[in-house]
Amino acid sequence: MTTSRFYISTPIYYVNDVPHIGHAYTTLACDVMARFKRLDGYDVMFLTGTDEHGQKVETAAAAAGLDPLTFTAKVSKNFRDLLPAMNISNDDFIRTTEPRHILSVQEIWRRLVANDHIYLGKYAGWYSVRDEAYFAENELVDGIAPTGAPVEWVEEPSYFFDLSKWQEPLLAFYETNPDFIAPNSRRNEVISFVSGGLRDLSVSRTSFKWGIPVPDDDAHIMYVWLDALTNYITAAGFPDTGGETYQKFWPADIHMVGKDILRFHAVYWPAFLMAAGLEPPHRVFAHGWWTNEGQKISKSVGNVIDPLELIDTYGLDQVRYFLLREVPFGNDGDLSRTAIISRMNNDLANDFGNLSQRVLGFIAKNGNAKVPTPGLFSDADQAILRLGEELLARTRTAYDNQAFNKALEGVWEVVSAGNRYIDEQAPWALRKTDPERMATVLYTLLEVIRRLAIVMQPVVPGSADRMLDQLSVPADARDFAHFGTNHKLTPGTDLPKPEPIFPRYVEAE
Ligand code: MSP
Repeated sequence: MTTSRFYISTPIYYVNDVPHIGHAYTTLACDVMARFKRLDGYDVMFLTGTDEHGQKVETAAAAAGLDPLTFTAKVSKNFRDLLPAMNISNDDFIRTTEPRHILSVQEIWRRLVANDHIYLGKYAGWYSVRDEAYFAENELVDGIAPTGAPVEWVEEPSYFFDLSKWQEPLLAFYETNPDFIAPNSRRNEVISFVSGGLRDLSVSRTSFKWGIPVPDDDAHIMYVWLDALTNYITAAGFPDTGGETYQKFWPADIHMVGKDILRFHAVYWPAFLMAAGLEPPHRVFAHGWWTNEGQKISKSVGNVIDPLELIDTYGLDQVRYFLLREVPFGNDGDLSRTAIISRMNNDLANDFGNLSQRVLGFIAKNGNAKVPTPGLFSDADQAILRLGEELLARTRTAYDNQAFNKALEGVWEVVSAGNRYIDEQAPWALRKTDPERMATVLYTLLEVIRRLAIVMQPVVPGSADRMLDQLSVPADARDFAHFGTNHKLTPGTDLPKPEPIFPRYVEAE
């Protein structure tokens, strides 16, 4: 049997600055997706990394008084260090300054030349260093880029990619691959942009040096987006297209990106790949942006959110849960203190945490600290057991659409049903009158909690693990192959002393 594979990537981050909440968010979404697929039996490759060339990084290095190589090594490390702090399970970390990548980008270039898609010309127009993007005169708004970034006039010899010829092939590609761009609103945006016509794209620069040299013409370095996008295929083993990794993992399943960089991924990237005779990825998902207490996040306002500080204040799994639960993935969202505390206290502490703590605490006190032995299951027991059983399939459908909030809403329906069930069945009242019935109710609840903890692993890996520890579920029985009734809890199994898993947020005095 061959295992299915799943390849997911984050954008590679510019090393001009420290990591902020935007970086953490994209990476987290990929992590949750990667963890889900691993638990579901897929062979997963999860890639993240840093985008280290271009004018923006060169300028930042100069401002720091360092040569670009020293500077990029230092800043790239900040991004790498964020990963364990957020419990990110990436399989690879790519830096665009690595030899494997330089080789790969130069090979892509050679293929584009060999297929006659690159020609030498002269660029004269506007360039935004912040966006690392070219803008036409008629795209500017009051003399600045539509993104709000300043632009500078650039006039230099340049190689061009014949993007204008790719309008029809791209539209045909979107048509035959309706799932290529998600969410759907973004797909329409891209289609309308491409339908408006495409201009050839300047893909080399001569006015600075920090980039990958164009093969056979050292005066030019490659445009940073051609360099950067190629990272996804470098990590899959390109140029060795016969290699095992390439055969297995390319084309990628999902490139996760922020809405601001969708055009590069959904227009330029598939055009480059098709022009080089390579297959485009299966899907590009564009997520929304966070504001901070209702305000646009920006360095000049000084309200940039440090993910490490957030984790310090509220806890890692609390932050992971909040970011994925608060808004439909794809929409913009607001990160506010009250919203985080409310999710932390209501959803995690009161609903989910309390369900497991009530049941485990009661068993520790009144049930010899063992998994109870159930009798016959009543209709009410069977109903809640069935809800738990159906949860995996529902969650899987949501994950297949990157609808993380929907997946979590589905989980919470079962959490709420569990809390209602325990109130209705009132095992504490059965302790004296009908201990056998009490055992059945508690067993039913433990089974529901086991299922909840298993599907919650991708979002709150540390907490779900602790919950499964408290249920004495062995480490090798936590993947989705062990979700079903065949792997239900064994009566009589010893249970460790339960500890609360999701603390409430208490305001400091
Ligand atoms: N280097 C390019 C990507 C190249 S991929 C081949 C780049 N780097 S970046 O460091 O600027 O990436 C920023 C990422 O963070 C983008 O996906 C962007 O959408 C995301 N965010 C930046 N600010 C954000 C918010 N306020 N909220 C959510 N995400 C945001 O672009």
